[in-house]
Amino acid sequence: MSTRWRVVVTRRLPAAVEAALAERFEVQRNDDDHPFTVAELRAAIADADAVLPTVTDRLTAEVFADSTGRCKVIANFGVGVNHIDLDAAARAGCVVTNTPDVLTDDTADLAILLMLAVLRGAGAGERRVRSGHWSGWGPTTDLGRRLTGKTLGIVGFGRIGQAVATRARLGFGMRVLAWGRRRPAPDALSGVTWVDSLDVLLPQVDVLSLHTPGGAATRHLIDASRLARLRPDAVVVNTARGDVVDEAALVAALEAGRLAGAGLDVYEREPVVHPGLLGRDDVVLLPHLGSATVESRVAMGLRAVENLAAVLDGRTPRDRVA
Ligand code: DGY
Repeated sequence: MSTRWRVVVTRRLPAAVEAALAERFEVQRNDDDHPFTVAELRAAIADADAVLPTVTDRLTAEVFADSTGRCKVIANFGVGVNHIDLDAAARAGCVVTNTPDVLTDDTADLAILLMLAVLRGAGAGERRVRSGHWSGWGPTTDLGRRLTGKTLGIVGFGRIGQAVATRARLGFGMRVLAWGRRRPAPDALSGVTWVDSLDVLLPQVDVLSLHTPGGAATRHLIDASRLARLRPDAVVVNTARGDVVDEAALVAALEAGRLAGAGLDVYEREPVVHPGLLGRDDVVLLPHLGSATVESRVAMGLRAVENLAAVLDGRTPRDRVA
């Protein structure tokens, strides 16, 4: 029997994905699904032909230090690659791929879910019912605010930002403004107003929804000064990466009543959440659920396998990012 490529998979994956991997490769699985340590990641890069990591793996330059040149591809399970040092990967001779497209709809749906949940007080209401503290319906109690017809500001107008814009316009009759580092082609902007400056966009919106990639270029893009440009009745929704928002500044703005609420799916130090957020009824906090559907996770895994196989077969992978 010919030798099979050795693939290290850092987390448990949906059964269909593990089966697809096992069919073609010699797979090192992580049966108890613990987040890999630096030592485990270093060993993976040194001893495997391919590594299939996730957002919980920090592939820093240190992780590539023992590289032997054996590892040909890092096939990330997920679209965001800000946890991978792309320069270090390139120096080690590793191609890096991601899994775009397949999680766009689910992540966009979750952003809308957070907008509704924050404006309608769904998180606090649900907690009150569960805790037995709901005293019944009242004409003036539990009043939230309507999403329909409001103005949405989208920061980062890639696939997910565009999918959120479509839902907001067509499903909720929202006026949509968008800003990003690259102005998209005119057909992607149908019904959306492009704003050339983030600082000009901020004071105009009821809901600010973040869809930029993470990484050094967007770290604390929404900082204290940007939060101060939002109206006090605005809310912030983040399904992108935690460090796009300065979490301490967000807490300070909420505490001072300078912001009406926040819906967060991602955090600066996941899975640690800023303690100032945990007790607040004006925030809705989800555990990084953006792509967490069976449909997305199976498709992400199969796409990662496709990319990994392409590189090992000497072909150009569909989703090369570096
Ligand atoms: C992504 O695809 O980047 C999600 O955040 C999960 O990793």
